[in-house]
Amino acid sequence: MKKFLRNTNIDADRFRAGMAQLTGAVNIIATRNGKIKSGLTASAVCSFSAEPPRLLACVNFNGNSFQHIAQSRCMSVNVLAQSQEELAKRFADMSGDKNEDHFKYGKWIELVTGAPVLEEALAGFDCAVEEMLVAHTHAVIIGEIKDVIVNDGLRPLLYSRRAFTTTMGHYDDLPLDYSMYPWY
Ligand SMILES: Cc1cc2nc3c(=O)[nH]c(=O)nc-3n(C[C@H](O)[C@H](O)[C@H](O)COP(=O)(O)O)c2cc1C
Repeated sequence: MKKFLRNTNIDADRFRAGMAQLTGAVNIIATRNGKIKSGLTASAVCSFSAEPPRLLACVNFNGNSFQHIAQSRCMSVNVLAQSQEELAKRFADMSGDKNEDHFKYGKWIELVTGAPVLEEALAGFDCAVEEMLVAHTHAVIIGEIKDVIVNDGLRPLLYSRRAFTTTMGHYDDLPLDYSMYPWY
């Protein structure tokens, strides 16, 4: 195992080397701006508050999708299952044709805001954009949750050390007993 010694000379590559150790869930953020649908794969997503229900996502504002989210003021955040790796690659422009309509893959529905929601996602959060904070290259977007769909029991798609992976967790093959998890 390679160990990095302490180093205060921080550049982007060193930062990325550190962040590669942070395993994250993989999501697709999607929006509809008039007739245009747009979306990107994103791991910089987390819960913000439960009361009121809010999440946050960090989106590069030089990408296509940010402009559409900023104009439409809505977005969905779709938490992907392991089986949706191909979809994650398409929405990250890592496979397929960059100009293809990524939404022809998967089943996309509309709930409240009009943003496309992936029906088979582990969870799909339909959000109105409440706040945006732009700094450097990215925007922190706070989403006000308008609706949620949940498909329980599938393995999550994770991104770790620059590769897609999943859990080998103890819970994977067990039925969940929610009484053990009072925060649910
Ligand atoms: C695993 C993974 C996680 C990513 N996370 C983010 C993210 O949190 N925010 C972001 O802006 N881009 C992220 N990206 C990059 C975007 O998916 C990619 O640049 C995409 O093509 C942008 O699409 P757009 O031009 O429609 O905005 C990620 C890519 C991968 C593969």
